[in-house]
Amino acid sequence: MSIEQGRVAVITGAASGIGRGLAEYAAGLGMRLVLSDVDGQRLQALCAELQALGAEAVACVTDVGDPAQVERLRDVAVERFGGVDLLFNNAGVMQTGHCWEITQEQWQRMLSVNLQGVINGIRSFVPLLLEQGRPAHVVNTASLAGLVSSPLMAPYNVTKQAVVALSETLHYELSLQQAQVSVSVLCPGPVASEIMASDQVAGAAGAQFNELLDTSIRQGMTPLELAELVFTAVREKRFWILPHKFFKPALERRMQSILEETNPLFQFVDEKGTEIEGEHDAA
Ligand SMILES: NC(=O)c1ccc[n+]([C@@H]2O[C@H](COP(=O)([O-])OP(=O)(O)OC[C@H]3O[C@@H](n4cnc5c(N)ncnc54)[C@H](O)[C@@H]3O)[C@@H](O)[C@H]2O)c1
Repeated sequence: MSIEQGRVAVITGAASGIGRGLAEYAAGLGMRLVLSDVDGQRLQALCAELQALGAEAVACVTDVGDPAQVERLRDVAVERFGGVDLLFNNAGVMQTGHCWEITQEQWQRMLSVNLQGVINGIRSFVPLLLEQGRPAHVVNTASLAGLVSSPLMAPYNVTKQAVVALSETLHYELSLQQAQVSVSVLCPGPVASEIMASDQVAGAAGAQFNELLDTSIRQGMTPLELAELVFTAVREKRFWILPHKFFKPALERRMQSILEETNPLFQFVDEKGTEIEGEHDAA
């Protein structure tokens, strides 16, 4: 029997990719699941699939950008399972393009899902987790883009770096209170998912850049492989979850450039060791 057996996990963006992998892995550990996504059809299908395998799961259609819907998600978890042990603020979307060309609506959508969604999760769930008076954990999904900026992904970089800042702050505040609630920030590189499939991404930054990104994501780590690493980190109450190590030299260069006050140079080594340097305009 796993230590997670019978505990309650809430997962946003559960219907696809990383969220789906976390849901399947958690079901395998015997956790009780509150699955949420804005895509009701895929969400119900996943819920039925996991129930057929014997999991206790409930589906709650939720747009994470809407505070009232996230409050309702918390209430559903409490009504159905009496509390929450593990919250995954996972839902997220992608937008590519030059930052000056991205429309107000596109910026708004990115800020709403990727940033406000995590804020809503924290505001709705952390008071409950603290009140419960037992160990609980929050995992906020950022990205390696939360630590290093790449061109043509401004709203993604901006929202993910904000999620890292928010998570660090939450970690300090919980530690200062000696709370039994802990937090991790998940910063993966490419993980096979549908994130590039949205109509909103298509064509925005030039087909070539989107294709490169899509290929790298589709060839990435599987969501189940990632889920295993995430659950290990949660058991260890590890704040930083960096499943891909290949970008650490880029992170080191960024830190050096800040400390030495030299201008940032975009230079990135991908998973295959290929160096991408300088201006990277694929439009
Ligand atoms: N796939 C990668 O390579 C990768 C790398 C780093 C970080 N991430 C992050 O992982 C998270 C999951 O993304 P993914 O790659 O699995 O993508 P995905 O598109 O496969 O899954 C994202 C899910 O979120 C849902 N969603 C979108 N908007 C929502 C909203 N407003 N409210 C609730 N749900 C919503 C979608 O319907 C979808 O089911 C995101 O935060 C993403 O930024 C992904």
